[in-house]
Amino acid sequence: MALPDDLAEEAQALRQRLDDWNYQYYVLDDPTVPDAEYDRCMARLRELEQAHPELQRADSPTQRVGGAPLDKFRQVAHEVPMLSLDNAFDAGDMLDFNRRLLDRLGEGDRVIEFACEPKLDGIAVSLLYRGGLLERGATRGDGTTGEDITHNVRTIRSIPLHLRGSGYPAMLEVRGEIYMPRAGFEALNRRARERDEKTFVNPRNAAAGSLRQLDAKITAERPLEMCCYGVGRVEGGELPDRHAEVLDCLREWGFRVNPESRVVQGIEACDAYYEELAQRRQALPYDIDGIVFKVNDLALQRRLGFVSRAPRWAIARKFPAQEEMTRLLDVEFQVGRTGAITPVARLEPVFVGGVTVSNATLHNSDEILRLGVMIGDTVIVRRAGDVIPQVVSVVTAERPADARAVSFPDRCPVCGSVVERAEDEAVIRCMGGLVCAAQQKAAIKHFASRRAMDIEGLGDKLVEQLVDEGLVENVAGLFHLERERLLQLERMGEKSVDNLLAAIEASKQTTLARFIFALGIREVGEATALNLARHFGNWEQLAAASTEQLLQVADVGPVVADHLAQFFASASSMAVVSALRQAGVCWPDLEVTPVEDLPLAGQTWVVTGKLEAMGRDEAKMRLQSLGAKVAGSVSAKTRCVVAGPGAGSKLARAAELDVEVIDEAAFLKLLDRHGVEI
Ligand code: IVH
Repeated sequence: MALPDDLAEEAQALRQRLDDWNYQYYVLDDPTVPDAEYDRCMARLRELEQAHPELQRADSPTQRVGGAPLDKFRQVAHEVPMLSLDNAFDAGDMLDFNRRLLDRLGEGDRVIEFACEPKLDGIAVSLLYRGGLLERGATRGDGTTGEDITHNVRTIRSIPLHLRGSGYPAMLEVRGEIYMPRAGFEALNRRARERDEKTFVNPRNAAAGSLRQLDAKITAERPLEMCCYGVGRVEGGELPDRHAEVLDCLREWGFRVNPESRVVQGIEACDAYYEELAQRRQALPYDIDGIVFKVNDLALQRRLGFVSRAPRWAIARKFPAQEEMTRLLDVEFQVGRTGAITPVARLEPVFVGGVTVSNATLHNSDEILRLGVMIGDTVIVRRAGDVIPQVVSVVTAERPADARAVSFPDRCPVCGSVVERAEDEAVIRCMGGLVCAAQQKAAIKHFASRRAMDIEGLGDKLVEQLVDEGLVENVAGLFHLERERLLQLERMGEKSVDNLLAAIEASKQTTLARFIFALGIREVGEATALNLARHFGNWEQLAAASTEQLLQVADVGPVVADHLAQFFASASSMAVVSALRQAGVCWPDLEVTPVEDLPLAGQTWVVTGKLEAMGRDEAKMRLQSLGAKVAGSVSAKTRCVVAGPGAGSKLARAAELDVEVIDEAAFLKLLDRHGVEI
């Protein structure tokens, strides 16, 4: 039976639409349709292609995953070798690089134009397009010979199966980096942990492991992306004569090019770009390990040529390494506020991520088993941005003969109480409760902290002294400190003692939300405390609430409700609360506003960019406290976008949809108007 024309047209229209959406999503960073609509169109196209095999095409968006697994990778020769880059480590190295360029060009001093690009930490690949169709994808390998990974690269949706637009060369080899964005990496590891599978050490290893699959179905499930940074073989067509313009062409033909790429004049501007990106490095959704600077003029590039395996016209200025090797000297156990006992690695000090690290968390016993780490081992430590340092893997080949296994304590290392491991929990806990000095200290530190009771001058060291000297046992004890006794403490003069007592006195006037948060009930963070306060309005209602009533509060699920119920059922916790209130801790009761009457009820807001006064999570929490829903992307339903510096595509999207955008100053004013504390 002949294929009806309208079906062929429908299939063509669906393919076009899916390609466009992919392009908008991956290349322009601008999602335009909900996932459900995308999935619906894809399902319809599949249905058509199955019913009418003559409609099938190798470059259809339905054909990203296909074929049986390979039994081995085929070797691929790179006609134009894939080179590496020389490194620079500081501004001095950059000046040397500039000088070498000027000397080589031999035309005296001049300002060179550079293309600057983040150096993505992933896997270098080559994609070959013939007649606009993706023919082959290959790894870099040793630069001359790589492996054929066509079946895997086809599954990556930021890689076009056919080029868009027109004017591309008949044969075009595009080069770039395949990487795994951090969020995707975290999610992948979380899933692996849940299934007791091996986790990946870092996003780069995860990307490499995902590409090294013989079965493309596995690769297809991995959150990989590709960013292009150049071309290799080009035949049957012309490209522009500047590197950045070549990248512009690639973008038009359907490739993702890093949106952070810039063209600058002169080596000082390269340094400024480096510093700027170094500041924002952690805020980028993927790992970068430096910045690549390339002479932008391709005619100059040709004149400069290559030395051995690297071009003379480019350099990679590296950021301080985020991973280093060092030795695990010992494992100690720390007791936290809730009694959780955490193993901490004591390390031979090592400079990593810009600071000297001598401790790193080992999380829990499962993590130690997973790492297979022993005391004396050489380990790899990672410190990315403000994230606490982690031991990510063990170099087992370097294990010394006298390496010792890590043994977990069966008694609390601080108070000697028994420890227990709750079912379905990886942590062990000290059962000593508030008898345990470690838990006492942690509870008091939390109680006094800025976002809780905000007792100025009561720092960690002082809390430790107070507990060690037996001056306080629990938070209520803070309100009965004696001036004379405090004066006997080390480093406590008259002035500091008076200031401390004044700060303690002042902290008595608080808010219900702060008070709830300050109590340190498990899983009750600031946002939950605020929701509880707003929901119940006063302490009595909260303390008397049934589990069903607790579950009605925004953010409160069965686990939190259970912790709250346990807290209210504990005689010792209730005694501390009474003692606090007797000492004069008080707050105004709140009028309970039904959710639908809150000022931003029914509105959806979006927060983007960097805010000065608070993190995005805090901004979100405050908006929620006013009744708003906070969404991750801008749509026609968005009522308003709060945008700090560095806001990107969400801002453009808001402009397109005519959605109101306010800056941080206007946002703070709005919070103030509604009486929200900052
Ligand atoms: S250009 C001839 N640009 O860094 C120039 N490389 O050590 C060759 N890389 O294996 C590469 N981002 O995978 C270039 N924007 C970028 C890059 C980049 C990451 C990787 C690339 C290469 C390694 C060079």
